[in-house]
Amino acid sequence: MAKDERMEKVVNLLERRGFLFASGQIYGTMAGFFDFGNYGTLLKRKIEQNWWNFFVDTRHEVVGIDGSIVSSSAIWNASGHLAEFSDPLIECKKCRAKFRADSLIEDELKISVEGKSLDNINKLIIENKLVCQNCKGELEIASSFNLMFKTQVGASEDESSIAYLRPETAQMIFINFKQVQMSSRKKLPFGIAQIGKAFRNEISPRNFVFRCREFSQMEMEFFVHPEKLDECQISENELDLEINALTEKMQESKENERKTTFASLLNGKSIGTKWHAYWIIKAYEWFLGLGIKKENLRIRQHVKTELSHYSSETWDLEYNYPWGWKELSGIANRGDFDLKQHMLGSKKDLTYFDDETKAKVLPVVIEPSFGLERALLTVIIDAFEEKLDGEEKKTILHLNSSVAPIEVAIFPLMKKDGLAQKALEIFGMLRKNMACEYDEAGSIGRRYARQDEIGTPYCLTIDYDTLKDETITIRERDSTLQKRIKINECVEIIGNLLKGGKF
Ligand code: GAP
Repeated sequence: MAKDERMEKVVNLLERRGFLFASGQIYGTMAGFFDFGNYGTLLKRKIEQNWWNFFVDTRHEVVGIDGSIVSSSAIWNASGHLAEFSDPLIECKKCRAKFRADSLIEDELKISVEGKSLDNINKLIIENKLVCQNCKGELEIASSFNLMFKTQVGASEDESSIAYLRPETAQMIFINFKQVQMSSRKKLPFGIAQIGKAFRNEISPRNFVFRCREFSQMEMEFFVHPEKLDECQISENELDLEINALTEKMQESKENERKTTFASLLNGKSIGTKWHAYWIIKAYEWFLGLGIKKENLRIRQHVKTELSHYSSETWDLEYNYPWGWKELSGIANRGDFDLKQHMLGSKKDLTYFDDETKAKVLPVVIEPSFGLERALLTVIIDAFEEKLDGEEKKTILHLNSSVAPIEVAIFPLMKKDGLAQKALEIFGMLRKNMACEYDEAGSIGRRYARQDEIGTPYCLTIDYDTLKDETITIRERDSTLQKRIKINECVEIIGNLLKGGKF
């Protein structure tokens, strides 16, 4: 299947089955905003819970916060976002359509301009005589466009009432660093994590929820003593994990990504510090745990010119999307940039007192950052399969059980003869333990197909034998194998299967 066609089918499935859709359709939509329906909400919650469990609940050295969305311009001034958080904008002289200049070049010239300066972008556009994608008109010179959404707080309209919707959740962690550290009595190294909305006035939102204007981030700021960035335990197994990697040097010499290990990336000093390697490994393991295929993932180091204003080293975990390798998640070394800036901006002491050395230090921050919608879309793209069943095309979402919106579907063979009643009884029992759906409409084949499409790993059928011997048929989505199990054992059996047990 062509890559574009695959994406079109994924979007069609997500809209048709009510996972998510453009927001406010009955009034006409605004690009870059989405609403989640039933299955999408379930899937989103599962990914969120899975992330929180992996990065927070199972680690004694990480605590969580939930910061506010609207915040004062003082914060964004100090963080550098007001001055630096922008994309190159270009406008058509004729039809006045506006584009992201780097995307225009990537689309038209099929080259990456990641990290190129505004001057270089303008040079490329002029040299290659690029025109408006809308009307073929001549283009203005590209300029910087700040991506922050501005708002006003309170009734007065003076400068002091200007506020912003946060473009990253991270800043709420930095401004609260001292309070959270003191109240949780955490010692370095430790992390503060947060899941919440972020807003970016993207010039050209595209690829469904890959790049939208309102989205959720799952971020952790991990604070490390500046002299202890290599004091980190990484197991041998993790150091020997294989990964496709593209270092800065390889990009400079125009090489493709290569399979390597984290040990080799650390020994060769491609990854600067052990704590940075540790969180790249954890991000990679988390996505593998969601069921994403290894061969569709790679890590790519940012070249110097593309680093964000706060970062000294960033690695993107990239996915091979239908539109090419793009960032799925980013793991940055933010140094002490943010804490230092907020100390300057607020005139408050944000240093950490180190008991061992009896000295104040500003911790260095390693930040694994994830987009929830982007993770969700990637999980779906990776799990999507369309295959021919006789004459008919069937869609199967091979979702990992840990994120499947519905874990078990329950069908009575017929509505009559007490079968529906029995099926509802079993549904009532199972739904206390797992995410279930009851369906009595259409043939069993149709009902299987409906569940395969939304990624339900197991289906149960209640038939006439059930009434005689208290057994039911369980069918596995990926193998389509079926077997009989006892009703009184099904909670335990399905529970084990959902944890990865063999069918
Ligand atoms: N705090 C660091 C930070 O915000 P980023 O690379 O700009 O870094 C982190 O964003 C993650 O947030 C990305 O890897 C991506 O998953 C997600 N993300 C960023 N912009 C997005 C957008 N416009 N729509 C959806 N997800 C986005």
